[in-house]
Amino acid sequence: MTQDEMKKAAGWAALKYVEKGSIVGVGTGSTVNHFIDALGTMKDEIKGAVSSSIASTERLQALGIEVFDCNDVFKLDIYVDGADEINAQRDMIKGGGAALTREKIVAAISDKFICIVDDTKAVDVLGQFPLPVEVIPMARSYIARELVKLGGDPVYREGVITDNGNVILDVHNMQITDPKALEDKINALPGVVTVGLFAHRGADVVITGTPEGAKISE
Ligand code: A5P
Repeated sequence: MTQDEMKKAAGWAALKYVEKGSIVGVGTGSTVNHFIDALGTMKDEIKGAVSSSIASTERLQALGIEVFDCNDVFKLDIYVDGADEINAQRDMIKGGGAALTREKIVAAISDKFICIVDDTKAVDVLGQFPLPVEVIPMARSYIARELVKLGGDPVYREGVITDNGNVILDVHNMQITDPKALEDKINALPGVVTVGLFAHRGADVVITGTPEGAKISE
């Protein structure tokens, strides 16, 4: 099975959590794209979606799924999204696709975070995948210096502007043994919009695509 086939298995398996008549929180990325395709088969049975990126919004709308403004929705039952890394405690690194801020917002209004990944994303310690940090452009150099003090090697993601008009620093060489503490420290830096550590709001359900098919851990 290829990595994309494992992503597809995870994405389609998430469909069983979608309640008829509901508005579904939808993340961003290649794994979520499979979930969106699956959701298209239920488009007449759901009310719509709240999306975490322009890319996902376009894909949802192309399938005829209505996309609601996050401000018009009080709460969501489920949020379905991928991850770049996930540990056994269900803390995640996200933001490889630069959509981390909107992802964190939609996750925050959702009762249940359903993480869909292929089995290459599971790690013992977070940090092999460079940790994305979305920053206000004028704070980029200052925050990079502060991230060095925290033990990382930040690299400016050239040519990428987020959906919110900001830039991304990818922090290499971190061994993230206390994800909640690091999330707090980076969040406290002036100019940081969002750190791609999802520890305070981790996953509730993990669906892993494996060569044997999708495995669900609740
Ligand atoms: C988007 O910004 C990310 O948080 C994605 O959820 C993450 O990068 C997973 O992407 P893939 O599903 O493409 O691996």
